[in-house]
Amino acid sequence: MRQRNRYTVRRISVVSLPLHFLSRKQIHFTADYLLRNVIMYTIALYNNKGGVGKSTLTLAMADFLATLQVAGRPLRLLVIDMDGQGSICTALLGVERIEQAKLSASTIGHVALQLANGHQPLLESLLHTRSGSRGGQPPLPALTVLPSDRESMLDFDANPLRPLTLLAQRLKPLLAQHFDIALLDLPGSLDERHLLAINALIMSDAVLIPVELTRLALQALPETIRMIRYAQEKNAHSLPQPLGFILNRTDRRSRQYRLHLPQLQLLAEQNQIPCFDNHLPHAADLANASDDTLNFSSLKDRYGSYYPHVRKVVKELFDRWQKGESSP
Ligand SMILES: Nc1ncnc2c1ncn2[C@@H]1O[C@H](COP(=O)(O)OP(=O)(O)OP(=O)(O)O)[C@@H](O)[C@H]1O
Ligand SMILES: [Mg+2]
Repeated sequence: MRQRNRYTVRRISVVSLPLHFLSRKQIHFTADYLLRNVIMYTIALYNNKGGVGKSTLTLAMADFLATLQVAGRPLRLLVIDMDGQGSICTALLGVERIEQAKLSASTIGHVALQLANGHQPLLESLLHTRSGSRGGQPPLPALTVLPSDRESMLDFDANPLRPLTLLAQRLKPLLAQHFDIALLDLPGSLDERHLLAINALIMSDAVLIPVELTRLALQALPETIRMIRYAQEKNAHSLPQPLGFILNRTDRRSRQYRLHLPQLQLLAEQNQIPCFDNHLPHAADLANASDDTLNFSSLKDRYGSYYPHVRKVVKELFDRWQKGESSP
């Protein structure tokens, strides 16, 4: 039987449900069922190609997951921004709070540096909560963010002797006491020198790979898979498990779709990484979703036609996670 990270799963006994047909109430039920058996499920969103929709999907998944209930209380969601550009933490908390986080040294890079220097970080002062309401508008769901900043990340990466399992061994157990799910938004263009981002991959239980059906995006996939395998080698439990490719900006009628889908399917088969059945469409105005100066009346207002597809992707993610847990 496959070995599992001891911070991930307490008990494994799940029955596969036909999640694609579940109602919203049933999504709550499934989240509740899965997460009651888990000590923090950590999901990285990663593709080495830039601009394929990693941060946008992380943002929308975070907003949706934070609306779910576990054990009669809101699901406790943490978002860790692993990209020094800071786009997702800015979208979630706003420019001013991210500037404050940098000044008060409360970013993932600072946390990693403290751990590397043998200090125990004080989580309460490092995590930033979005309280659930903003500017008198109907509330966005409450969630917690660990922001990024480029300088401290570069500092961490500058020492080639940093242990690659530092976050898995020292940070994950701390976070696992407080959160049900952690979503990690990774940057593109990773290689072995990006020690902090690789630490984040190694700390993850699963990785979702947003992908576009363009020639350039497909060319970047072998390197993406290589980095995931590299992280698996360094993790004693062969994690993260690649949960699947998720097609972004997809139009099933387009020429690119018909031309490039077979290539993705072949790559998926060769590497035993599934393609999600649910796709994300091209959604006009989606860039608005990450504009922290805009107020949104609902998540549907924030994400437009993209939002129902994100819900379906999350349902499928639960389904694949369940299947992974119940298979030998
Ligand atoms: N389905 C979509 N429809 C329309 N626009 C999209 C879609 N997905 C992403 N975008 C837009 O594409 C741009 C790049 O997306 P995003 O920043 O999420 O990619 P990324 O993979 O995180 O990039 P990076 O590698 O630079 O971090 C953004 O402007 C975003 O709004
Ligand atoms: Mg990004």
